[in-house]
Amino acid sequence: MSHTKTSEIGDEAGTQRVLVCQGRSCRKYGSFKVLEAFLADLVPGVEIIGSSCLGQCGNGPMVLVERDWTKPMLHKRTWYWRVRPDEVPLVIERHLRLAHPLVKMFYPKFHS
Ligand code: FES
Repeated sequence: MSHTKTSEIGDEAGTQRVLVCQGRSCRKYGSFKVLEAFLADLVPGVEIIGSSCLGQCGNGPMVLVERDWTKPMLHKRTWYWRVRPDEVPLVIERHLRLAHPLVKMFYPKFHS
């Protein structure tokens, strides 16, 4: 399954995307509601993708925010774990709109 939606406004289109895992394990923990929450408040230039398994089963719902993934020297990955739907508006506002990632929600395996 794949859900993809991109806002059509903004000149930064395609530089940032959010992968919301829709693999079996993450779905068991409610990742479809997390995806719906991201799709409910689109940010210009940010693509929202319902992805296949991100390889971190059991720690979800997993959300991976990627910036500049088409530019190897600038590519940055931010992993969030155990994301709840009610936390998504904060991620949208702080990380996607203001570029201030939420350190307290980082996945410790990749951000220690
Ligand atoms: S099902 Fe989400 S990380 Fe594997």
